[in-house]
Amino acid sequence: MHAPQTFPREVSLKARKSMYGNNTLQIGLFGANCSSGRAVTLVPERWSGNWPDNKRLAQLSDDAGIDFLLPIGRWKGYGGDTDYQGTTFETITWATGLLAITRRITIFGTVHAPVFNPVVAAKEMVTADHVGEGRFGLNIVVGWNEGEFDMFGVAQREHADRYAYAQEWLDVIKTIWSDREDFDYAGTYLNMKGVRGKPKPFGGVRPVIMNAGASATGQAFAVKNCDAFFLQASRTSLEETAQRVRSAQDAARAEGREIGCYTVGVITCKPTRKEAEDYYHHCIVEHADWSAVDGILALKNISPQTVPMAEYITQRTQYAQGMGGLPIVGDPDHVAAQLGDLSKAGLTGIAISLVNYADELPYFCDEVIGRLERMGLREKVRG
Ligand SMILES: Cc1cc2nc3c(=O)[nH]c(=O)nc-3n(C[C@H](O)[C@H](O)[C@H](O)COP(=O)(O)O)c2cc1C
Repeated sequence: MHAPQTFPREVSLKARKSMYGNNTLQIGLFGANCSSGRAVTLVPERWSGNWPDNKRLAQLSDDAGIDFLLPIGRWKGYGGDTDYQGTTFETITWATGLLAITRRITIFGTVHAPVFNPVVAAKEMVTADHVGEGRFGLNIVVGWNEGEFDMFGVAQREHADRYAYAQEWLDVIKTIWSDREDFDYAGTYLNMKGVRGKPKPFGGVRPVIMNAGASATGQAFAVKNCDAFFLQASRTSLEETAQRVRSAQDAARAEGREIGCYTVGVITCKPTRKEAEDYYHHCIVEHADWSAVDGILALKNISPQTVPMAEYITQRTQYAQGMGGLPIVGDPDHVAAQLGDLSKAGLTGIAISLVNYADELPYFCDEVIGRLERMGLREKVRG
């Protein structure tokens, strides 16, 4: 007879939010479910996004104590010479597969509220969460790319209504995950009767929830509903980043909530600063997939006709590298110091991307994570 199953870890919301660790600065990897990840480049070593590489990356990350994997919910590529992010895994099924072969790491699904029925989504996420024994997280997104919505035959709502819909969607999902059974929901958008969902999330505690709304409406939604809020770090002023963190946390406190703030970074780390800068230039300038970059800019209505030329050129460069994430380019001392500064600014964590995640991760972990451990920002990797 089998011994009764015991939970391998304490499953509380606090433990979920800390990603079952004690790291002052959490580190995750962003975008590995998509071809090319977040580097709009032609270089042949760019990220394949295929399953064997995702599997290898998840296991490497799990062993190295990386805190989380955050996928991108993308349904249609951006074209260009590489069809940038044209080949992507659906994120809840991707997370479920990876949760089954890892032990510690938290893995998010990035879910477009308008295209997933909430009863189906709640159950899919609970399934992932049981497979991962409490390690699934939800990144709720409302979508911005109309071409993608056309594929579903779903009309994109006005911006404020997208978040009003997402509020109902999340309320239904949280109620399904709670102890309530057989409830009716009558909202402006959703009208559901006798709703029930079992099992409940692993350990009876809901998954950690993140959002990255950038508009005033998006931010208000995030601070009201999420545990982890992704904001843009300033490229020029640490104080400004600290101010953004404080204002999001104050807004959450006004709702009686404590949230962690996170940001997105794109890291090029090599033994010397020159090597790092040369590689960055090679991938992101000389061999950028400029036709894909221009397609992304067009979708966002950024062109020399809509913004001043200087801004257009800046945006073009920033979109080539990480679609606007904070670029951190340098030797391990520099990269670790920059990450340390972000922690000082009050950030709880950062989701990073690399040109080839799996090839570059071992060096990043040995050199940068080791330094962060010595700086007291991360605990030693557990065996
Ligand atoms: C870390 C991060 C992850 C995101 N992931 C996605 C995604 O996978 N799919 C998507 O459609 N939007 C994604 N977004 C976009 C945001 O959810 C949000 O729509 C965007 O920041 C614009 O803000 P707004 O909706 O308040 O206008 C992401 C943004 C960030 C910073």
